[in-house]
Amino acid sequence: MEVKKDQHTSPPSEMIPIVDLSNPDEELVSRAVVKASQEWGIFHVVNHGISMDLIRRLKEVGSQFFELPETEKKAVAKPDDSQDFEGYTRNLKYTEGEVWAENLFHRILPQSCINYKYWPRNPPQYREVTEEYTKETKKLSERLLGFLSEGLGLRHEALKEGLGGEKSEYVLRINNFPPNPQPDATLGLPEHTDIVALALIVTNEVPGLQVFHEDHWFDVQYVPSSITVTVGDQILRLSNGKYKNVLHRVTVDKEKQRMSWPVFVDANPDVVIRPLPELITGDNPSMFKPIVCKDFKYRRLFKLPVD
Ligand code: OGA
Ligand code: NI
Repeated sequence: MEVKKDQHTSPPSEMIPIVDLSNPDEELVSRAVVKASQEWGIFHVVNHGISMDLIRRLKEVGSQFFELPETEKKAVAKPDDSQDFEGYTRNLKYTEGEVWAENLFHRILPQSCINYKYWPRNPPQYREVTEEYTKETKKLSERLLGFLSEGLGLRHEALKEGLGGEKSEYVLRINNFPPNPQPDATLGLPEHTDIVALALIVTNEVPGLQVFHEDHWFDVQYVPSSITVTVGDQILRLSNGKYKNVLHRVTVDKEKQRMSWPVFVDANPDVVIRPLPELITGDNPSMFKPIVCKDFKYRRLFKLPVD
């Protein structure tokens, strides 16, 4: 896995779209979200309604967790025999071509799916801050899903319902990418599309996210106080290909530590992922076969073909 810097020719004039969610003209906001999701599959939202103080506290508790000694972080480790993704994992052995990251993953919604054993007890405010952030991200993601539904000519709730309504799952991931002495030989995250519906990402000030757009890798600029939204595979499929699942990766820095906090909005595992039936007409035939969400994710994780 080599980071091909030569491929990387992003013209400075081309930037990832920035959508101001506080604009009182909802129609305009909705159209901007729809356009960015069709053309890029990624955009920043600013004035998104989540308080900067809450985001600061989210970053603080996550950073404090990663600063703990290894033995304490292992208290929430992903068990070796686990078939699920939840828990703390670490891949920081220096081997060329390996990924370079520590991660913590756990569900945050719905309440019935939460395994608190994967939520750090230290720092002690972790749970309270994460619960507060969860409420806010749910509101924001539902607003975005509403815009995207309207962009398909459907009711505001159409995509949310297609993902399982209140039974859709939300997952927090915290990525820690420490400085790496040979940044060209490794990646923090190899290129991928997110297998979920949407990701809402907060980062520290160190850039590193790159997206593939019109045959080039683009650096995603750090926009202070923004949340970066990526469109994943499930929205591609539910929208019958109208919205784009963006291919992206994360590079590492020689001197600086990068951290990111994506919240993934994921369909309920038992939901059938399929283009919303109202979209399918003679002129617009279905581009994807229906597949149960948990089978879809299993096949994508193990790199098996999916129709
Ligand atoms: C991810 C991801 C982006 C980032 O965790 O899937 O793409 O900026 N993260 O760290
Ligand atoms: Ni991703």
